[in-house]
Amino acid sequence: MFPEAFKYLLLLATLQLVSAAAKTLPQGQSIGATTNVTIQSSGIDRTYLISIPPKFDAGDLTPVIFSFHGGEENATEQQELSQFSNSEFNDFAIAIYPQGINKTWQGVPGDSANDLQFVTDILDQLEQQFSIDTARIWASGKSDGGGFTNTLACDSTLSARIAAFAPVSGAFYIPGSGCDPETVTIPCNPARTRIPMLEFHGLKDKTVSYAGNSSRKNACLPAIPHWAQAWAARDELANPTVNVTSNLTADTLVYTFGTGADEGLVVQVTDSKLAHDWPSTVPVGDKETASFNATPIIIEFFQKYPLL
Ligand SMILES: *[C@@H]1O[C@H](CO)[C@@H](O)[C@H](O)[C@H]1NC(C)=O
Ligand SMILES: *[C@@H]1O[C@H](CO)[C@@H](O)[C@H](O)[C@H]1NC(C)=O
Ligand SMILES: *[C@@H]1O[C@H](CO)[C@@H](O)[C@H](O)[C@H]1NC(C)=O
Ligand SMILES: *[C@@H]1O[C@H](CO)[C@@H](O)[C@H](O)[C@H]1NC(C)=O
Ligand SMILES: *[C@@H]1O[C@H](CO)[C@@H](O)[C@H](O)[C@H]1NC(C)=O
Ligand SMILES: *[C@@H]1O[C@H](CO)[C@@H](O)[C@H](O)[C@H]1NC(C)=O
Repeated sequence: MFPEAFKYLLLLATLQLVSAAAKTLPQGQSIGATTNVTIQSSGIDRTYLISIPPKFDAGDLTPVIFSFHGGEENATEQQELSQFSNSEFNDFAIAIYPQGINKTWQGVPGDSANDLQFVTDILDQLEQQFSIDTARIWASGKSDGGGFTNTLACDSTLSARIAAFAPVSGAFYIPGSGCDPETVTIPCNPARTRIPMLEFHGLKDKTVSYAGNSSRKNACLPAIPHWAQAWAARDELANPTVNVTSNLTADTLVYTFGTGADEGLVVQVTDSKLAHDWPSTVPVGDKETASFNATPIIIEFFQKYPLL
């Protein structure tokens, strides 16, 4: 038995440990605001936007959402497009909008950046500066940024740090041209099975065709159903070529893969009216609006899938 005074000291020491873990915000950052951060990665100055959510509490573990911009776009535009800093959709997770070199990402033909290292360096910095909920780090992105989201999911290291993935109008480039988009083998080396994957694609997409492309930028783009089914197979879902089809809106079908506990681990959403856009009912930067908002669906999906 400890004497009362000793118990009190123990309690004090514990409280001090807890408050030491409750880190304060880095210089220049504040709740509800977005800040531009410069970080050295692979010997180069890189930048990312960080947005601190309204419900941020330094004493709590905070989740992280990465949002990668499309080709020819930038981090500011991606913040506007993906709305992950809109408190109506996300009031709890730190949103990170990294800036790609030459406005694109590793994995896009001709790009020589080490963006896997860039993401690793951002994650290491965040985990140093904040009490990050390391089971709740998620990634999304549009077009080339959707492709890079898939590259992260396929990476043997980062797929073990990021819990779930949601590309929008993703450009899933495969080296070499002249493929059959319906059957091409998709290189992928994830660290684990049961990787949660949610994709959105428009049938009117003329940039990254739903049917795939045997030669874009001298590379191959898989047909979207083939790509989704390949994830269902990689995730070892039962009958990976079979999905349950349901309606989201009059022009949007949801293809759900998996059964039982795995139901919905891979989901592909097809909008027959959507072009190469981020689905949003209000204008957020893309050419057209859609019949639904992708962002709250993505956040709900993310919250279902912490790392186990
Ligand atoms: C962030 O800062 C860098 C370096 O000053 C600058 O080049 C870049 O345009 C800034 N990004 C944004 C989104 O303001
Ligand atoms: C991002 O792109 C927008 C639209 O082209 C432009 O107005 C803005 O200055 C760009 N921001 C940065 C930091 O380059
Ligand atoms: C960016 O573009 C320049 C000019 O085309 C090129 O020299 C450089 O290799 C590109 N950087 C990356 C990381 O691909
Ligand atoms: C494939 O990409 C090329 C080059 O961007 C483009 O001209 C062609 O229309 C695309 N084909 C399809 C089916 O989208
Ligand atoms: C889901 O199944 C339907 C019916 O077989 C098929 O037409 C559709 O392409 C499938 N969707 C995906 C994403 O595989
Ligand atoms: C989706 O809705 C359309 C139009 O309302 C309807 O024709 C179609 O049968 C529905 N499909 C499914 C799978 O519910």
